[in-house]
Amino acid sequence: MGASMLSSTDATCAGPGAGPILSVSDLSLRFGGIVAINALSFDVRRDVICGLIGPNGAGKTSLFNCVSRLYNPTTGRIVFDGIDITRHRSQAMARLGIARTFQNLALMKSLTVLHNVMLGGYHHGRTRLLRAPFVPVSWRAEETALRVAAYRLLERLQLDHLAEERIDSLPYPTLKRVELARALASQPRFLMLDEPAGGLSHAEVDDLARTLVQVRRDFGLTLLLVEHHMGMVMNISDDIVVLDFGNKIAEGKPVDVRSDPRVIQAYLGKQRGKAGVRKASPTATGAASGEHA
Ligand SMILES: Nc1ncnc2c1ncn2[C@@H]1O[C@H](COP(=O)(O)OP(=O)(O)OP(=O)(O)O)[C@@H](O)[C@H]1O
Ligand SMILES: [Mg+2]
Repeated sequence: MGASMLSSTDATCAGPGAGPILSVSDLSLRFGGIVAINALSFDVRRDVICGLIGPNGAGKTSLFNCVSRLYNPTTGRIVFDGIDITRHRSQAMARLGIARTFQNLALMKSLTVLHNVMLGGYHHGRTRLLRAPFVPVSWRAEETALRVAAYRLLERLQLDHLAEERIDSLPYPTLKRVELARALASQPRFLMLDEPAGGLSHAEVDDLARTLVQVRRDFGLTLLLVEHHMGMVMNISDDIVVLDFGNKIAEGKPVDVRSDPRVIQAYLGKQRGKAGVRKASPTATGAASGEHA
């Protein structure tokens, strides 16, 4: 991955604190003959929840992978808070204030919940958690600070009673919450959530929706939310961007996007093309946030 470290010369556009927090311009990503993202441009405003939706294979996770710098885009530009990060290293993202969760989870199965969340805050310190007994006293102090911060986050997400449980002993819905805690431990300004409601019951989805709204407000975050639960994403998003086959086919307020004929067609087309596919029209959202598209 041809990547460079952060430098003061990276500042571009309006500079930190002004304009959109994320600006994606003319971004394309190809895998051989597959076009995962095609000349995509959109902005994410500060301090909002921006929903990123689209049928299976639309390019949502690929976009997350480009922004979090796991994938190098084929063409285009990604500007975060006034800094061109298109060729930055993924390891630099946490220090910039970018965090994400993974569609299929990225937790350390043999570690406890608490240790996993501590690992999320690791970039703030020098401590190597697993070697903590052998590091200098000052580093032990950092580990204690990480531990306290992680525990507070677990309390905030009602997971503190599970702090000492191993990840591989816990059910999937709980792990989705732990993954959220791990991402928050890095103290991000911009948090990308890839299907946080996947596998949750209706009641759990409603609870998660409330949590995300509160967390966004209390932590002063901007959220970019990929989700197939249309009720949830339409209810809590300020803005929506819709992808299909790597192309942006609509963007705007939820009320406009849900009735956009191109969006309805994209979802209905997928339903016709694949029996039993889990996507449904975003118009069929109703008020219930637990509905799974
Ligand atoms: N590493 C990869 N190698 C080859 N093709 C890939 C790779 N990652 C993604 N793709 C392809 O890129 C396209 C977009 O995939 P992506 O995972 O981004 O879709 P998505 O919108 O996240 O879908 P879903 O809702 O099912 O998670 C798909 O055709 C997928 O097969
Ligand atoms: Mg995906």
